[in-house]
Amino acid sequence: MNHAIRIHEHGGPEAMKWEEIPTPSPGPGEALVRHAAIGLNYIDVYFRTGLYKPPSLPCVIGMEGAGTVEAVGEGVTVVRPGDRVAYATAPIGAYAEVRTIKADRLVKLPDDISFEVAAAMMLQGMTVEYLLRRTFPVKPGQTILVHAAAGGVGLIMCQWAKHLGATVIGTVGSDAKAELARAHGCDHPIVYTREDFQARVKEITGGKMLPVVYDSVGRETFMKSLDCLAPLGMMVVFGNASGAVPPFDVGILAAKGSLFLTRPTLATYTAKREDLVASAEALFEVVRKGAVKIEVNQRFPLRDAAEAHRALEARRTTGSTVLLP
Ligand SMILES: NC(=O)c1ccc[n+]([C@@H]2O[C@H](COP(=O)([O-])OP(=O)(O)OC[C@H]3O[C@@H](n4cnc5c(N)ncnc54)[C@H](OP(=O)(O)O)[C@@H]3O)[C@@H](O)[C@H]2O)c1
Repeated sequence: MNHAIRIHEHGGPEAMKWEEIPTPSPGPGEALVRHAAIGLNYIDVYFRTGLYKPPSLPCVIGMEGAGTVEAVGEGVTVVRPGDRVAYATAPIGAYAEVRTIKADRLVKLPDDISFEVAAAMMLQGMTVEYLLRRTFPVKPGQTILVHAAAGGVGLIMCQWAKHLGATVIGTVGSDAKAELARAHGCDHPIVYTREDFQARVKEITGGKMLPVVYDSVGRETFMKSLDCLAPLGMMVVFGNASGAVPPFDVGILAAKGSLFLTRPTLATYTAKREDLVASAEALFEVVRKGAVKIEVNQRFPLRDAAEAHRALEARRTTGSTVLLP
């Protein structure tokens, strides 16, 4: 039998139920994957609360997993039964012991990347790959701002940006998180729950301000983040941890110095298989050479996914979190 965390209606963590569901069989183009570890991501919270809408209810949430291919459907050539694989992609359905998924969304894992590390890093790490290398290609010597710098995406982004030669300013919710971010390449952690991050950015850059801000906090940081940019700077809003950014007057971009604004998603940047594979390979490379260390700082049994969501939403997690079936 197969067990999964399902939601029947949107709501708080208590909406997630541990249930027995049928084991699916792979259709044409699909693979059946037995998960060894599942990644916890903020997007799982959005699907649970209804900020993002699942195709139907009840549904199994979750976007990321790592495990072994058990069977493949007709026409599948990219993976075979027995392959170690990982993914970070729609459709949702990762909070389960086994699932089917389009085989061309799977990436084969190198032998020296564990299932746990893979489940912890695929979604957050490929996100960092496209943000730092494609949305705004960060160059050596540039100074950048990363919000939630001690989080899952945050710790990977600090390390990778440092590896690219950037100076990293990062916001964090506590002194302990500031230390953690610093230990992962954040040159200037700012505790934004007590410090004015825009004033600190001005001080750190000697008034020059920044070419780019990576903002995943959303509503609470958006307007002030715009004020951290130099003219022609790029505002990258890629998440909503504090809520979605409300409707916005584009004239503000003109007033603040001909700014650029983008709201990117990993889905777009990995829509083509060649982009997915290239993104995963770039991530494997920085991890295997030690430039980026994946910090799995929380582990929960899959059946206790509600506890994991509570910790994530209460800002009690740092680095990455995995759910273990
Ligand atoms: N667009 C994309 O392609 C994409 C892909 C992956 C992730 N994301 C986004 O990136 C962000 C980070 O994802 P993650 O999974 O790595 O999570 P995370 O950063 O580990 O956790 C969220 C962090 O946001 C900060 N935060 C600030 N205000 C908050 C609030 N009101 N409630 C809760 N947290 C708040 C907290 O850090 P502090 O205590 O330090 O403030 C918290 O630890 C999320 O917004 C996610 O949606 C976007």
